[in-house]
Parts: sequence; C-alpha cells; structure tokens
Amino acid sequence: MNLIKKLLVAPATVLALWAVTAQATTDDAIAERLKPVGQVCVMGEECKGVGAVAVSAGGGARTADDIIAKHCGACHTPGILGAPKIGDTAAWKERADHQGGLDGILAKAISGINAMPPKGTCADCSDDELREAIQKMSGL
Ligand code: HEC
Repeated sequence: MNLIKKLLVAPATVLALWAVTAQATTDDAIAERLKPVGQVCVMGEECKGVGAVAVSAGGGARTADDIIAKHCGACHTPGILGAPKIGDTAAWKERADHQGGLDGILAKAISGINAMPPKGTCADCSDDELREAIQKMSGL
C-alpha cells in the first residue's frame, strides 16, 4: 500500500466508526422518546409514574375505613339482606360466638355466606385487611 492510499483509508475508517456510534446514539434517543408516558422520568422532577406504581403494588396505603367505605358499607351500613350493621356489636358478637370468634366470621367473610359475597367484593383484600375491617365494623 502506498502512502497516499494509507492516508485515505485511515480517515475513512474513523468516519465509518463515527457513523456507527452516531447511529447508536440516535437509536437510543428514539427509544427513549418512544417510551410510554409514565416511564420517562426527568431528573430533578418527581417521577410520577414510578410513584403511582409503587403505591398500587404496595397496597398498604388503604386503611380499614377505606375498605369499609368502598366495599362493605353498601350492605353493612343499612344492614340490608340481613347483614349485621356497622356498630351493632351485639349482632356481630352473636355471630362470632356461634362460629368460633373473629376467626370464624373472618373465614365466612372470605368464602362468602348467603347474600354476603366472597371477601365482601374486595377481591384484592388480604385476610388481615378483612380482619381489620370486620373489627372496625363490629367493635369486637
Ligand atoms: C352485597 C352486600 C354485602 C357486602 C358488599 C358485604 N357484606 Fe358482609 N354480609 C352481608 C350479608 C347479607 C351478611 C349476612 C349473611 C348471612 O348470615 O346470611 C354478611 C355477613 C358478614 C359477616 C358475618 C359472617 C358470619 O359468619 O356470620 C362478616 C364478617 C362480613 N359480612 C364482613 C364483610 C366485610 C369485611 C365486607 C367488606 C370487605 C363485607 N362484609 C361486605 C352482605 C354484604
């Protein structure tokens, strides 16, 4: 290879490498821009998408009151269909006494009983959450 050719080839290689690198950067940038809303977090700003996912996945944020208001109150506040009323401790105690205490009526609440739907319609409630809701409604 003569000197002239060497001089011409070297810059060409550099140019080719540069082109590949530039392309990669551009693809990354496009992929970043194509990300669905909520996944892109801007530095220095609160990352809302991630926060929302964390809250819904954790599920620990809701209280017994939230669950009662959303799921149990519809039947247990008015006491329809024979549901024991919220705050009517005697009615709840009577049931608990016949079914092995709080654990007994919790088991019925989980499986459902007559007009009482399984888990009181709170399908994603944990047993502990249901127990807390029952304690709160019954005063037991
Ligand atoms: C669609 C109406 C309805 C909803 C919603 C509902 N319940 Fe009930 N619940 C009933 C009825 C009716 C009964 C009485 C069933 C029976 O003994 O015939 C009952 C009974 C119960 C009992 C007593 C079970 C037993 O063994 O005697 C518990 C505990 C209970 N509900 C918990 C809950 C909880 C906790 C929620 C909310 C997460 C809830 N319920 C939501 C209608 C409902």
